[in-house]
This record gives sequence, C-alpha cells and structure tokens, in this order.
Amino acid sequence: MNILTIVGARPQFIKAAPVSHVLRDRHREVLVHTGQHYDASMSDVFFAELGIPEPDINLGIGSGSHGQQTGRMLMAIEAVLLAQRPDWVLVYGDTNSTLAGALAAVKLGVPVAHVEAGLRSFNRAMPEEHNRVLTDHCADLLFCPTQTAVDLLAAEGVTVGVHRVGDVMVDALRQHASLARQRSEILARLGLSAQGYLLATVHRPYNTDAPDNLRSILAAFDDIWRQTGRPVVLPLHPRTRKQLAALGLAAPAGVRLIEPVGYLDMLALEQAAALILTDSGGVQKEAYTFAVPCITLRPETEWVETVQAGWNVVVGADRPTIVQAATQRAWPAGPPPPVFGDGHAAERIVAVLETSLPAGTAAELRR
Ligand code: UD1
Ligand code: UDP
Repeated sequence: MNILTIVGARPQFIKAAPVSHVLRDRHREVLVHTGQHYDASMSDVFFAELGIPEPDINLGIGSGSHGQQTGRMLMAIEAVLLAQRPDWVLVYGDTNSTLAGALAAVKLGVPVAHVEAGLRSFNRAMPEEHNRVLTDHCADLLFCPTQTAVDLLAAEGVTVGVHRVGDVMVDALRQHASLARQRSEILARLGLSAQGYLLATVHRPYNTDAPDNLRSILAAFDDIWRQTGRPVVLPLHPRTRKQLAALGLAAPAGVRLIEPVGYLDMLALEQAAALILTDSGGVQKEAYTFAVPCITLRPETEWVETVQAGWNVVVGADRPTIVQAATQRAWPAGPPPPVFGDGHAAERIVAVLETSLPAGTAAELRR
C-alpha cells in the first residue's frame, strides 16, 4: 500500500508520528510537509524528538492569508499527487494543510482518510471549523477519536467509512510521557518545582487577534500569581509573540514567557503543572490524560468529554472568570475516565486502511 501523508502544523507532526511508525513497518509512506509551520521550534524539533523521518517532500508554503496559504498548498499538493499516485492520502486534524490535502486528493479521485474526524465547535468564526467540516465531507475514511465525534458525523448524514479508533495524541503521549520525565530538564532550567507553577498556551485568533482578550488573559495570569504565588509559564506561539509586539504589550510580572518548547519539554511541563490554562485543542486533551485540571480560554470546546468529567472548564477570556476558576474551583479527585482510547489508535487506523482500499480508484489515477 502507498500512503501519502500530509502534515504542516505543530500538532500534526505529533498526531502523525504514531501512525507513521506503524505504517512504515509494512507499507510505503511518502511524508509531505506543507511548510505551514517552519520555525525550528515549531517543526524540526518534533521530527527529531518523535523519531519521524525527515519529510520526503517539503512544499515550503509558509505563512499567508487563509486563501493564499490554502490555495498555494492546493496547487503544490496536486502536483505531488499526480507524480506519486498514492493509494490513500492521509490528513490530520483541522488546519489549512488538512483542507488543502483533502481537497487536492478528492478532486483527483484519490481516496482520503481523515484522522481526528467528527470534531465540531459549531463556531463558524473559527478557521478550523470550516476545515474540519469540509475535510470530513471529502473523506472516504473518517477516523474518530470519540463516540461524540461518531455521533456528530451521523447527525450530518456521514455514516459510511466512519471508525471510532481512539485518539492518536494519546498514543503519542503514552509513548513519550515517561521519557519526558526522565530526559527533560526544563523544570530545573526554569527553576520550577512540581505543582509550583501553572502552564498556559495561547494562540487562537479568538484571543490573539482581539487585543482586549489578550490583555484580559495576561492580566488574569498576573492576578493568579498575586493570589497564589504561582507564576504562569507561557511557551509563546509565534502568532501570539507577533501580536504582543504589534500591540506593544509586555508580559506582566506573574507571567514567565518562554519560546515554544519541544514535545518532551511540553509533556514534562504539563505533568508537573498545578493547573493548565489553554486555548489549544491538543493541550486540553493532554491535561485531561495527565489528570491536570484545565481552564479553557475559549467560548466553547470540541473536547466536551473533558468538561463533562469535570476536569476542564470553559471560561473564554474574561479576567475575573479565569481568576475565579483558577483559584476557587474544586476539581475531581479520581482519575479521568479514559474517553480518548487506550493508546493504540494508530494500529487500528492502519488495520482499517489495509482492508478498505476502494476498488479502482488508485488504478484509475494511474491510467
Ligand atoms: C495553525 C492552525 C491551527 C492550529 C495551529 C497549531 C490553521 C488555520 N490554523 O494556526 O488550527 O491550532 O496552527 O499551532 O491552519 N508563524 C511563525 N513561524 C512558524 C509558523 C507561524 O512565525 O513556524 C507565525 C506567522 O506570523 C503566521 C502566524 O504565526 O502568520 C500564524 O501561523 P498559521 O500557521 O497561519 O496559523 P496558526 O495560528 O499557527
Ligand atoms: N506543544 C509543544 N510545545 C509548545 C506548545 C505545544 O510541544 O510550546 C504541543 C502540545 O503538547 C500538543 C500540541 O503541541 O501536543 C498542540 O499543538 P497546538 O496547541 O499548537 O495546536 P492545537 O492542538 O490547538 O491545534
């Protein structure tokens, strides 16, 4: 089987790693990096730490407006598909790289498999929401992390090719969590002790592109430090760094701004944090899996199971609400129910791919 995998942004390198390892045992995988993320700290470090082979093809698309970026990817991926003629195109998550890959493939009649299918925020202001809906409706195989995702697809009439396999991010986490504890020196380097700090990430346009929200979040972090004595460690996404500079905003005393960290350092920081504050999708799931309470700095979440279990609270960007959640909320005592699977999603995905090749599709392309 010839698989062409398309990745481009930080969380996709992490999601693709476990699947790539299983695939390459038995099949040929061509790894295409769109170049959506390109800083060493947003890209190279993940290939090194997760043992993913260098991309076979790097399209070098880089940043741009949504239309420009997605359009340039679409053209470049089409050319790659015509040259490579894979049996499957495998895409992950909900970025512009995901949509461009799915669209290029479906228009050439190449079967599309979507990992992390069926997620919905029902917020059309999010670029990810269009990307997911459109990708799911292009896909021949839809690999869902949860039953919620399966049910949401059914509600849109998508029932064929849907498989609940678990979450590949949990595969990656389980494979690297103890390695992170052994190898990462980030706590010592930053002078932090376990439970002595909070960890935050902020990169969604809802927060970065709304100056009031960004100011409110930083002020809330500072309030939390003043009330608890615990600093908020914030590995800063380049998008957010750019916005802070544009607005002339500096981090307040209670916030420790650091560069984006590699995967092992991030897992180490998450596991030892007293609390996580984030607008990231992946980080919400990692907090849950590590049983670290999470405050979501968005108006809604796709990962509703984390909220239902009491380990996550959705608060948006309002300063007093964030501070209250961080300082006064009671969190569950027992371990979170394992709603994101058993860490073997990648094996299930490859097994389904092996038995599901639509007859004739790849052959037609080869003619
Ligand atoms: C993208 C995804 C988002 C995902 C996130 C993961 C889309 C629409 N959004 O958001 O779903 O959660 O990745 O991190 O696909 N930049 C750099 N260096 C880099 C990459 C980006 O400086 O290596 C800066 C550029 O100024 C760029 C900005 O960050 O314009 C935004 O990058 P982009 O990839 O467009 O979107 P993200 O916000 O990273
Ligand atoms: N992550 C990381 N270093 C960081 C911030 C995040 O390794 O400085 C990891 C994090 O552990 C998770 C993934 O990146 O596995 C989440 O990616 P991101 O928040 O960029 O995107 P999202 O999940 O929101 O799409």
